[in-house]
Amino acid sequence: METPPTPRFDDLLDRTVIGSFTNVGYAIRKRRWVDGLPSLDGKTVVITGATSGLGRVAAERMASLGAALRLVGRSEAKLEIARREINSATGNDDLGVYVADHSDMGSVRDLADALLAGEPAIDVLINNAGALFPNRAETAEGNELTLATNLLSHFLLTNLLIPRLEDSAPARIINVSSGGMYTQRIRVRDLQNKRGEYKGSIAYARAKRGQVILTELWAEKLADRGVVAHAMHPGWADTPGVETSLPMFHKLTKPFLRTPEQGADTIVWLAASKEAAESSGLFWLDRRPRPIHRLKTTVEAHADRRGLWEALNELAHTGF
Ligand SMILES: NC(=O)c1ccc[n+]([C@@H]2O[C@H](COP(=O)([O-])OP(=O)(O)OC[C@H]3O[C@@H](n4cnc5c(N)ncnc54)[C@H](OP(=O)(O)O)[C@@H]3O)[C@@H](O)[C@H]2O)c1
Repeated sequence: METPPTPRFDDLLDRTVIGSFTNVGYAIRKRRWVDGLPSLDGKTVVITGATSGLGRVAAERMASLGAALRLVGRSEAKLEIARREINSATGNDDLGVYVADHSDMGSVRDLADALLAGEPAIDVLINNAGALFPNRAETAEGNELTLATNLLSHFLLTNLLIPRLEDSAPARIINVSSGGMYTQRIRVRDLQNKRGEYKGSIAYARAKRGQVILTELWAEKLADRGVVAHAMHPGWADTPGVETSLPMFHKLTKPFLRTPEQGADTIVWLAASKEAAESSGLFWLDRRPRPIHRLKTTVEAHADRRGLWEALNELAHTGF
């Protein structure tokens, strides 16, 4: 029998980045895991970005665990295909779809209204929709696209749904971030990425850093209210999103990229496992909490954490 990696070895592996984020890290760590996850029978799970990549495979796996699954996407046609395929692969027919464009806060508000009207309980909210944009663009509402899609929409949707999550306690919020966030510090005074030359990967990493800060803030706010919040990153997985937005990276690393199922494993584990209900505010990869910073230069000032919350409230025209 192979010996599974010790936590210390795993931490060292994580520091190598390449060994950790690729399918090599996944294969080494998987040896520690016992097969099978608890059933999600009776749990309503809302997952955004369910039409492609990680969200699509996470949805199918949670459907096979018995969840009442609510798939959120921006394309009605793609949602219908996902629903049909998941139903035929798992036999689960408790599958609902909701259409929303996460770059548009009006659409995100409509989504929250529809979910609150349609779902008496929400046990798990998975904020997975996201994208990396090579060029700076603004939405009709005047928000920079990376910020709107990857951070502001998650802030707005989650806060609007928190009352329903609390009513459904014990409940979970899961934010799909990125290991790219290790490279950046949050820039509260430039959330719209206006200063200097726009670089898609940097804007994306800052938004993903923001998601991790929000996760910690939600964990603090919701402590003792029966709702835990976790962030995770999937490593590097071969998805349509990576192939389109990072074609050169995709080409060079393809043999070492994780499958979407491998990248999505920790999303499903955070939704279903007993362990994930016992902590809050952590950042996970491959079923273990990981450091939130690797570099001193990315650590934000305490005032910036509060500042981020206030700035997002201002942009979303909310008072959470
Ligand atoms: N794959 C990786 O290696 C990796 C690494 C780090 C982090 N992530 C994160 O993992 C998450 C999933 O990414 P992926 O790799 O699976 O990418 P993907 O295949 O492109 O899937 C992204 C999902 O988000 C949806 N989406 C994008 N923009 C949207 C919008 N404006 N409104 C509504 N839905 C929108 C997409 O919808 P459509 O199907 O309509 O396009 C799709 O369902 C993202 O948050 C990403 O940042 C991925």
